[in-house]
Amino acid sequence: MELYVRNWRCIEEVKVDLKPVTLLIGKNSTGKSSLAYAPYLLVKLAEWRDVNRVLTQLYGVELDGVVRSTGVEKYYPVVIQAGDSRFEASSAQDYRVPEGAPWRDGYLLPSQRLSFSKLAQFIPKLGRKIIERSPEAKLLLAFTSSIIELLKTLPILPPMYFFLEDFTKLYRGRGFLRLHRLGEVGVLIEEVAPLLNLITYEYEDPFTRLKIPLNLAPDGFTDLIIVRIFVEMIPEGSLLVVEEPEIHKNPLQIIDLIKYMARRAVERGLTLVMTTHSDIALQALAKTVEEEAIRTSQVAVYYLERSHEYPWTRIRELKVYEDGTIEELPDVEKAVALLF
Ligand SMILES: Nc1ncnc2c1ncn2[C@@H]1O[C@H](COP(=O)(O)OP(=O)(O)OP(=O)(O)O)[C@@H](O)[C@H]1O
Ligand SMILES: [Mg+2]
Repeated sequence: MELYVRNWRCIEEVKVDLKPVTLLIGKNSTGKSSLAYAPYLLVKLAEWRDVNRVLTQLYGVELDGVVRSTGVEKYYPVVIQAGDSRFEASSAQDYRVPEGAPWRDGYLLPSQRLSFSKLAQFIPKLGRKIIERSPEAKLLLAFTSSIIELLKTLPILPPMYFFLEDFTKLYRGRGFLRLHRLGEVGVLIEEVAPLLNLITYEYEDPFTRLKIPLNLAPDGFTDLIIVRIFVEMIPEGSLLVVEEPEIHKNPLQIIDLIKYMARRAVERGLTLVMTTHSDIALQALAKTVEEEAIRTSQVAVYYLERSHEYPWTRIRELKVYEDGTIEELPDVEKAVALLF
C-alpha cells in the first residue's frame, strides 16, 4: 500500500510503500515517528471526522502545529494518503477528511506505552484514595462518566488517550474482562479494567520461578506483554504502529521479539509499521527473511535522514535480500569507528 505524505511535520514530500512489515530507521529527529503516525492518523480521522480533536489527542496541538513549518512560514497543503483514503488541508480552516481507511482498524503503541500503562494503573488507585479521604469527591467523580471520557475531553499526556482507547477496545466484548467495581465510581474503574486485568497476570522469575504480579515485573517483560497483546488481539487486516520495539530490551531479546512480530504480522494479515534506533532490530528482520519466516516482498526498510542543506526528511529504501543481507547498514560503521 502506497503512503503519500506532504507538509506534515518535518516531511516536505515522501512516498513509501507500506508492506506487511515496514521498518523505519534513522537518527533521532529524522521524522520516523512523524511518518509512522501518518497512516494511523488516517484511520482515526475516518472514524472521528474532527481533525483538531484527533490531533489534540495525538500531539496536543491543532492542525497549525503539525503543518510543516520553518517557524516563520507554514506550508500548506497538508496531504496524507494511503490507497483511496486521503486527508487534505489547504489551510487550518479548510480541510477534507477521508471517508474511510484502507485498514480494518488502526492501533498505536507509542514509545511512552510503558509509562502510560503504569499511569493507567495508578489513576484508579488515586481515585480510590481520594474517595476514601473526601466523600465530596465522590460527587465530583460521578459527573465524569469514566477516566477515558475525562482524558478525551482534557487531553492530558497525548497520545495517552489513544493508547488507552486502543487497549480497551481489544478487551471489550471478550469474555475474560474482569471488572474491578467500586461503588458509584465503578465506571471509572471499568474503563481501565483491561489494564488492571493485564497487571493481575503473573510474572514468573526465569531463574527461581518466583511468581509476582505483573506490576512488579521488570520493564522489558511488561513491554513485551503489551506488544504481544496487540500483535495477537487486534483484528486481522489492521494497521499496527509500534514505536521502538527495542525499548527496555537486551539485544538477544530484541532479536526474538522482532522475529516474532514480523512472523505474526504476516500470518495475521497486519500492516506493521515500526520505528527503530536499533541496528539489531534491522538485522533481526533480515534474519527472519533468511530463515524464510517472511519473504523479501513482505518487508520494507526505509532509512530516514535530514541535513542542514535539506532540513526535510529524505528517505532511502534499504533492500533486504533473501540470504538475509541488507544493502547497507547505515550508522553501524560510524558507531563502530567512534567506539574503537
Ligand atoms: N510543524 C513542524 N514543522 C516542521 N518540523 C516539525 C514540525 N513538528 C515537528 N517537527 C520536527 O520534526 C522532527 C522529527 O520528529 P519525529 O518525532 O518524527 O522524529 P523521530 O525520527 O521519531 O525522532 P526520535 O528518534 O527521537 O524518536 C523533529 O526534529 C521536530 O523538530
Ligand atoms: Mg520517534
